[in-house]
Amino acid sequence: MASHPLLKPLLIVLLLVGGVMGHTLRAQSTLLQNAPARRVLSLNGSWNYIIDPYENGFYDYRREAFDQSKSGKGGYYDNAKPSSTQEPELIEYDFDKSAALQVPGDWNSQDPKLLYYEGTIWYKKSFHLAPKAGQRYFLYFGAINYEAHIYLNGKKLGMHKGGFTPIQYDITDQLSPSGDNFVVVKADNTRRPNEVPTINTDWWNYGGITRDVFIAETPATYISDYKVQLAKNDANTLAGYVQLSGPNRANQAVTLTIEEAGIKQTLKTDGEGRVAFRLPAKKLMRWSPQNPKLYAVRLSSGPDAVQDRIGFRTIQTRGADVLLNGQSIFMRGISIHDENPLIPGRARGEGDLRMLLTWAKELGCNYVRLAHYPHNEIMLKLADEMGLLVWAEVPVYWTIAWENPDTYQNAEAQLTDLISMGKNRASVVVWSVGNETPLGEPRLKFMSSLAQKARALDDTRLISAALELHRTPDNVIHVDDPLGEYLDLTSINEYAGWYWGGSPSEITKYTFDIKYNKPVTISEFGGDALAGYHGDANTRWSEEYQEALYVNQLKMLSTIKNLRGMTPWILADFRATRRQHPVYQNGFNRKGLISSTGTKKKAFFVLQEYYRQMAQKYDRK
Ligand code: GCU
Repeated sequence: MASHPLLKPLLIVLLLVGGVMGHTLRAQSTLLQNAPARRVLSLNGSWNYIIDPYENGFYDYRREAFDQSKSGKGGYYDNAKPSSTQEPELIEYDFDKSAALQVPGDWNSQDPKLLYYEGTIWYKKSFHLAPKAGQRYFLYFGAINYEAHIYLNGKKLGMHKGGFTPIQYDITDQLSPSGDNFVVVKADNTRRPNEVPTINTDWWNYGGITRDVFIAETPATYISDYKVQLAKNDANTLAGYVQLSGPNRANQAVTLTIEEAGIKQTLKTDGEGRVAFRLPAKKLMRWSPQNPKLYAVRLSSGPDAVQDRIGFRTIQTRGADVLLNGQSIFMRGISIHDENPLIPGRARGEGDLRMLLTWAKELGCNYVRLAHYPHNEIMLKLADEMGLLVWAEVPVYWTIAWENPDTYQNAEAQLTDLISMGKNRASVVVWSVGNETPLGEPRLKFMSSLAQKARALDDTRLISAALELHRTPDNVIHVDDPLGEYLDLTSINEYAGWYWGGSPSEITKYTFDIKYNKPVTISEFGGDALAGYHGDANTRWSEEYQEALYVNQLKMLSTIKNLRGMTPWILADFRATRRQHPVYQNGFNRKGLISSTGTKKKAFFVLQEYYRQMAQKYDRK
């Protein structure tokens, strides 16, 4: 057939549309700010599940995706049932007769046969929700690791990549009029080189629906987003914006009320439903770790209203100093993974998170590094309440595919969602664009672009990343990573006394040569210790070795004149697939100051005493 001149362009268009509808779909509605405040129905609890390593519920036997076929049917997301018992159709699955997993919760820690499982697991949950006329409904997942295809009543809502940031779909028009609905999720935690993170990490690849799931409800026109914080470097001005969404968003009145501070201001949205504001804020008491003051903030517009508890503070750097509310501080921190060491697995909710932060407070911390990925939104609210500064991070970790544009878009989307979720949290003072990434031009371009994106999204917080260092034979530790130019804090992971530099007593030979005249934080140092294993300061894996390492690390680090903080690695032992010594590790990274049975190791008390002294030196009464 002679090719028609329009055939080729038409084919290209069809391919593009097919591509978007196929596997690049991320069409989730923009994240509702403070979505948990809108919850009307929790979907936490038992979800039936099917283990599907061959993705039999997604592809036919010729590896064609069922949800891309003409009918769109055939996959497990149909939740099909035989129409009769006489001559029942061939259906080779049945969610309702399958076992259940608890949500939230990774699957690895719920069933021994899933401990190492990497692949697809299908989840199904039926629920009753009778939609009210004029209201909007959003299906909200706190996180699904790693790639999720989400269906409601057999229809595809979308696909999401990223194991640690919220996922949300406007389901108003997909809810069944009868109120009887079912949601099906294809969760796939397979590691892949072009993903974020890539295939190599030092944490367990916990898969599944690991955070809360609920349905949020709003009026047809609703407050979809807002930021209420102090203006950058201006402690007397409250600044931010409110965004309405829905048919009547334009030229609407919005009222911001902070009763305790005598603030009640009515604003008017523009043609796009948005209004920015700057208001005098003289009476607002400043939030700080010593005084974690939170105010009840209420935003209302027409039939909609949303409440939040927000702290107000400023954070900035000046030369070598980090200024919180204009005062120089020392950030007494600790690194934390999103894991409950006592019941290994992703932290499952407020109880787990409060336990971790209570340990940090007991250590004498005013600061935590939530490594290496966005933690639960609840963790940020608890840090606000308990008075802990937060370093929040995206999992741009180790050897990312720096030259792959899809990889960059994925990283940027995860950063955008992290900042969207955390922008009203006083505790969050650092956005980190990654961790310990090898030098090179493509990496520098990728990460400096992320740093610029973070600053564009939120110029009220500090930007950082865990940088690279190198050593010379004269025992000088050099920090001149070019990424440092783009950051507000010079942060380094440094493992003298464990991975290099000899025994703990030898590491005080090192001095530092740091290129940037900025505040320095040590984003990691540490060493493994098996709790209860004792020897002397040279017995690797013993508590005494770790104790001596901390004593000498603190001595060595105190020679850095710009040192303004640290987050030693790590609060508690955590599961890590790479850690395979059958006696000392047994699938755990043992750098915790607290063991996986909750025992405080000797090094805990070394750091606790150091922080007591630093608090006396820095925290004015
Ligand atoms: C690295 C990395 C951590 C890892 C730690 C270790 O610096 O950032 O994720 O767990 O060191 O080796 O224990």
